Amino acid sequence: MTEQDFVPSPYEHLIPQGKTSWRSPSNIALVKYWGKLANQIPANPSISFTLNTAETITSLDYKLRKKGSEGFSFDLRFEGKPKDDFKPKIETFFHRIATYLPFLTQYHFEIDTHNSFPHSSGIASSASSMAALSLCLMELELALYPEMDENYFFKKASFLARLGSGSACRSIKGPIVEWGHHKGINNSSDLFGTLYKGEVHAVFQNYQDTILLVDKGEKKVSSTAGHALMHNHPFARERFAQAHENITRLTSVFKDGDLDLFIQVVESEALTLHAMMMTSLPYFILMKPQTLVIIEKIWAYRTATQIPVCFTLDAGANVHVLYPERDRDKVLQFIKNELVAYCENGQYICDQIGYGSKKV
Ligand code: PMV
Repeated sequence: MTEQDFVPSPYEHLIPQGKTSWRSPSNIALVKYWGKLANQIPANPSISFTLNTAETITSLDYKLRKKGSEGFSFDLRFEGKPKDDFKPKIETFFHRIATYLPFLTQYHFEIDTHNSFPHSSGIASSASSMAALSLCLMELELALYPEMDENYFFKKASFLARLGSGSACRSIKGPIVEWGHHKGINNSSDLFGTLYKGEVHAVFQNYQDTILLVDKGEKKVSSTAGHALMHNHPFARERFAQAHENITRLTSVFKDGDLDLFIQVVESEALTLHAMMMTSLPYFILMKPQTLVIIEKIWAYRTATQIPVCFTLDAGANVHVLYPERDRDKVLQFIKNELVAYCENGQYICDQIGYGSKKV
């Protein structure tokens, strides 16, 4: 498919008003997206577990404006209160997607959104919020084109979400979503995320992700700035090639459930992501001392118990602790006994692999 496939034919009629609401989960990348080309095209493919509990719930009220209205018209409420500092991000998003949703200038929108996780927990909410908003907008497009098929609906929602925040395209479906062209994955595309259809071993069913909130402050370097630093990065070419190989390795891990290899790929990806940050110019570090203490403790616990628990990181100091459901009680006890002390205000979120966005 090409971008052109997402440009709709002219509308025959516009409906006067309506309301829709979607909930979208966050996702955690196993093979990381870091570096992008123009129009939010990823420099390398990535693959993620969709989460279940950490989610954004967004509702969209739409009302037809007077004929000939120009520009975008919307109000935004976050956790029940007007949130004007989020508006520029939505404005940019609307500009990027206006070609694909020409109705955008013809409606006034009331966007109401809230997260299931604590505000400013350091968890990136852009993935879940852009996914939920894209689905709400697709719901309006569906009302205008009732014959639209379901596959196209979700593909285009992912396509739009990508234009809001790259990794958001992986929050539409679940449990495992791949994004970016990869020779081993049928129908993979740089334009949208694709539900992983390969065989998946039972050990990954309900795989657990306990998110340790190490640092809830604003990130010093945004992911937009971080992606940009992959241009002219001395290790970029090797890194992008490695991501392709790691996806190939994960496809065999998913099939045979080899958790030793899973741990190797996932932890190496997390450390490589941060190594890219530390070796760009300017260089920066998003991990905190507590991040490293937690990693050391996870390694020591794994060696002592042989329980296949591992970590991954996103673009921040928080640690995602990944492990099979069968080990849940023991690992949670370990987290409470040994890791919570390194979380800001002792906060963590128990999540697990989930099945994607849902209409409310
Ligand atoms: O979607 P963005 O532009 O916020 O970038 C996300 C990048 C990582 O979270 C670090 C990796 C990933 O693939 O999700």
